[in-house]
Amino acid sequence: MSKFITFEGVDGAGKSTHLAWFADTLRQRGLEVLVTREPGGTPLGERLREILLNQPMHAETEALLMFAARLEHIEHVIRPALQRGTWVVSDRFSDASFAYQGGGRGVPWAKLEQLERWVHEGLQPDLTLLFDIPVEIARQRLANNLTLDRFEQEQADFFERVRAAYHRRVQQNPQRYAVIDAAQSLEKVKQQLEEIVSAI
Ligand code: TMP
Repeated sequence: MSKFITFEGVDGAGKSTHLAWFADTLRQRGLEVLVTREPGGTPLGERLREILLNQPMHAETEALLMFAARLEHIEHVIRPALQRGTWVVSDRFSDASFAYQGGGRGVPWAKLEQLERWVHEGLQPDLTLLFDIPVEIARQRLANNLTLDRFEQEQADFFERVRAAYHRRVQQNPQRYAVIDAAQSLEKVKQQLEEIVSAI
């Protein structure tokens, strides 16, 4: 049976670096794997991403647009892939809305839960890898980037709230998550991922 796996973490946690390797490792084991991302993953979703990453807006507009892009993604990409037996690995999903719009921007948790029920219609990732890292270290890594989007430009306290909200999600549903210590060396993180691949 195909699985839906998501990667999460604060900006600068290094999740995207590991995602390509993770997907290749699954492919080497003979699995059909689709790599996708949020916001994005569909033509409309990518246009919404462009707006979301650059255009200032009300926090709840931001939450609604994230979930609008997600509905397109689920209906046109994720569900069809899972139904034909393809594994789906997504760089971010709804946990990011709880973390960034909920924790970071203060959108009420209950409103996000409402959107989640509406848009997901029962779909949840089989596994979420949370790349957890002290905000200080994540920010040092981001400092090497030449351009920063609207989220990456936020201050440390914003990312502390994002990180805390991710942990709140883990506490609410611990069996869905593998929390990775992303402050470790690339090699050590890879080892943790290898163990996860073997387990699934
Ligand atoms: P990325 O840099 O990992 O591609 O993600 C783009 C940004 O979008 C990242 O800073 C987190 C943010 N984001 C949200 O705020 N809410 C969401 O629901 C998603 C999927 C991403």
